[in-house]
Amino acid sequence: MSTGYALAYRLGITPWERAGEVAKAGFDALLAREEAERSRPPGRALDLGCGRGQHTHELAARGWEAVGVDNIPRAVEAARSAAGPGATFVVGDVTDLSESTLGTFDFFLDVGCFHGLGADERRAQGGGVTALARPGATLLMLAFQPTPLPLVPDGVTRADIEAAFGGWQLLSVEPADTSGMPGPLKRTTPQWYRLRNGA
Ligand SMILES: C[S@@+](CC[C@H](N)C(=O)[O-])C[C@H]1O[C@@H](n2cnc3c(N)ncnc32)[C@H](O)[C@@H]1O
Repeated sequence: MSTGYALAYRLGITPWERAGEVAKAGFDALLAREEAERSRPPGRALDLGCGRGQHTHELAARGWEAVGVDNIPRAVEAARSAAGPGATFVVGDVTDLSESTLGTFDFFLDVGCFHGLGADERRAQGGGVTALARPGATLLMLAFQPTPLPLVPDGVTRADIEAAFGGWQLLSVEPADTSGMPGPLKRTTPQWYRLRNGA
């Protein structure tokens, strides 16, 4: 999948960014829910598979100390060049997260990264996130459901997520806004999953 993303960024074919723009109002509401539970400033947030930083920039604008991590250097360079105060970016692998490099976090965001990983990689991401999670940290994940569509991430079930995040409590599962997605992707019926560290 990484080769596919590298090519997509090189060619500028990034449909997930348009989908994110169209769905921005709903995404803002999800972040407002995270922030309502916290004092100001809300804390440190890690955007897993941040791409060119669309959501990391939004987190920083809302007062989070936001860190984006992605394994495609071209995407991270673009994210850095558009970054305002409060957003930093790291080239790295979400299946090999390091506390000494990244620190610990109150909130994790995964928009379209986890659902493209294999089972072992998902377990590695879950373990790494858990190691970096502060007590009571939350995770918000947008993931496709399993799909046979070619050239599309395989998707995951709720059970796949719960298996990777064993020490976390699944708080909610809500349908994501697909209005900005290309036609076939709408059939993946993506969901927003919200989890809290500490079952
Ligand atoms: C669908 S894109 C979404 C990007 C971004 N979250 C957004 O919504 O604009 C998925 C991203 O996950 C990144 N990714 C996939 N596997 C990764 C891994 N093992 N480590 C880090 N990033 C990864 C890809 O490079 C890509 O930028």
